[in-house]
Amino acid sequence: MKLILLGAPGAGKGTVAKQLTAIDGSVQISTGDILRGAVQAGTDLGKEAEAYMKRGDLVPDSLIMGIMEKRLQEPDCQKGFLLDGFPRTIPQAEALRDLLGKLSIKLDLAVNIDVPKDVILDRLCTRRTCSNSACQAIYNVKSNPPTQEGICDKCGSPVIQRDDETEEAISHRLATYNEKTAPLVGFYEKEGLLRTITGTSSDIVVNAIKDELGI
Ligand code: AP5
Ligand code: MG
Repeated sequence: MKLILLGAPGAGKGTVAKQLTAIDGSVQISTGDILRGAVQAGTDLGKEAEAYMKRGDLVPDSLIMGIMEKRLQEPDCQKGFLLDGFPRTIPQAEALRDLLGKLSIKLDLAVNIDVPKDVILDRLCTRRTCSNSACQAIYNVKSNPPTQEGICDKCGSPVIQRDDETEEAISHRLATYNEKTAPLVGFYEKEGLLRTITGTSSDIVVNAIKDELGI
């Protein structure tokens, strides 16, 4: 499957993407995970992105398009991909449309995961993430805690709160989402690709996507 996952911070894009990869081997491509990995590794990309991320601002479109142009041409994308956190602005969406046209790749759907704001705020305060940049498994102290407190079930690394999970950064990320990313819903509606799924259960979201794709 070739999907874009849209939704506010905490809507469950990463959680749903991880469930979908298990269905047909499509790869999850999370620009947030890629950037956090680069920050941890101290690369030039990470050094440039770090301050934006910590504040809850978007990193510049040019940096993101540089990453995605390469990533979408890697061989593992041939089975399909789940774009998690990309595109995030109208210029990114336009650049993605041009890039996919050039590569003769057709998207199946842009899925807008719609979750009430109070649920989102609660989830962001209670999320924990694996600190190993190659893993970045997602947990929640209330709904999905690791078996052993503070330790990742998958790789045994410490499970932590992300740097952008301060109250200030969370509220800035939500404002940035409303201003810059929410307009993508209209963009993909016009493209005839949008499917909005309202629901707080990731099983409902995953099943609705499967129904839509006929799988
Ligand atoms: P990014 O990592 O993409 O963060 P985000 O969009 O803010 O989204 P989140 O990862 O916070 O939420 P999610 O929807 O994945 O939710 P999750 O599944 O974890 O981006 C981080 C930063 O990188 C940005 O601020 C920006 O600086 C930069 N960046 C990234 N991409 C960029 C781009 N394209 N352009 C420019 N800058 C970019 O779920 C949340 C919690 O809820 C978890 O604890 C989970 O366990 C729990 N949960 C999920 N689903 C359920 C459920 N059904 N029931 C109960 N709990 C649930
Ligand atoms: Mg995520």
